[in-house]
Amino acid sequence: MSLAERKAVAAAIDELHDGKAEQSSVTDAARAVLEDSQERGGGICMQHIDKIYPGNATKALDDFNLDVKPGEMVVLLGGSGCGKSTALRSLSGLEDIQAGRIMVGGQDVTSVPANKRNMAMVFQAYSLFPHMTAVQNVEFGLEIRGLSFKERHRIAMEKLELVGLVDQATKFTQQMSGGQQQRVALARALAISPRVLLLDEPLSALDAKVRVQLREEIRRIQVETGTTTVFVTHDQEEALSVADRIGVMNHGRIEQIDAPQTLYQRPSTEYVATFIGVTNRLPAASNGDEALVFGRCVPLIEGSARGDEVTALIRPEALTIDTSGRTSAIGEKAQVQSIHFLGSHIRVDAVLKDEVWTRANGGKPLEVTVQCSSTGAPDGLAVGGDVTIVPLPVPALAV
Ligand SMILES: Nc1ncnc2c1ncn2[C@@H]1O[C@H](COP(=O)(O)OP(=O)(O)OP(=O)(O)O)[C@@H](O)[C@H]1O
Ligand SMILES: [Mg+2]
Repeated sequence: MSLAERKAVAAAIDELHDGKAEQSSVTDAARAVLEDSQERGGGICMQHIDKIYPGNATKALDDFNLDVKPGEMVVLLGGSGCGKSTALRSLSGLEDIQAGRIMVGGQDVTSVPANKRNMAMVFQAYSLFPHMTAVQNVEFGLEIRGLSFKERHRIAMEKLELVGLVDQATKFTQQMSGGQQQRVALARALAISPRVLLLDEPLSALDAKVRVQLREEIRRIQVETGTTTVFVTHDQEEALSVADRIGVMNHGRIEQIDAPQTLYQRPSTEYVATFIGVTNRLPAASNGDEALVFGRCVPLIEGSARGDEVTALIRPEALTIDTSGRTSAIGEKAQVQSIHFLGSHIRVDAVLKDEVWTRANGGKPLEVTVQCSSTGAPDGLAVGGDVTIVPLPVPALAV
């Protein structure tokens, strides 16, 4: 809740105390909005949560733990069915949990019903009322909280301004584009000044350009309002671009949670390394601190496996291509299969030439993907050409 908003609610409550307003226009709910706003920005702590849906053999959440700092945006990322929506729904109180504790702003809300948790959720489907205008949709939650018309209209217009839709306020939502409808849904969620904002794939029904635009807006608004937010998506790029931290989920729990860059550069498990971005799986020998990959010593991430036959997980940009044909102890000969020009960079797919790699790969030629900047591509790079793949000394995970 902004300072102005807080003052307005406080003024409304004062009015009530002065007897100027009718009891029906400003209720206890409005007071609760004010009190809750003081808690807003409070962090989330989900501890040891188990969730089993009736009739299911496996747990949808299995000792799930999540800490979100006040005002932080955490993105949950993971394959279909890994429990992302269940985590959000359990946090909001829409699902009962079988074990664990949920704290918000230092308060135990585990047994508090959903409508008392002061959280707002935005789903993939806009779930707006089609027979209402944009502003009426945004006002709705404030109306059921008992705010006066004047007050709820003022807050609704402020939120529509925040999402850039003031000029569309009186339009029926069914006459709006998908992107506009999702903005209305976002304004409606923010109107109640939730302590926590939960977004479950809010952008997945939108086309690529609107998606990018709206995710930037969501992030701007989230930072501006300081609302503690959990955002669920399938889209890696979306997660990497907006999150303070990303939690990668697998089988009902978070496997790693870290800042986007850390998660990408220092994945702690094979699942995380292969889930985010492209990863080459290259045979290597490791002493736990360093690995020998194609004759090059590569530093290893903590927790890496050791042994003479491990797999180093190496990003495409941590490999370089040499087209000079020079013989060297460092690097491995390969043949270029395809070259993809991607604007700012080039992605090259190649297969290793030495039969030893094919045998080690179960009889299939070992494919390697290399990425270089489009201005830094070596001369003579061509499909079918022979090249040498050379690892860079960038930290990698060995498994
Ligand atoms: N209402 C339900 N009843 C029974 N099982 C459910 C129910 N909702 C979800 N599940 C199961 O719980 C597990 C987690 O589902 P959830 O919807 O949380 O996954 P998700 O990560 O959000 O997936 P998606 O990316 O496809 O949305 C899945 O195995 C799913 O089949
Ligand atoms: Mg889901």
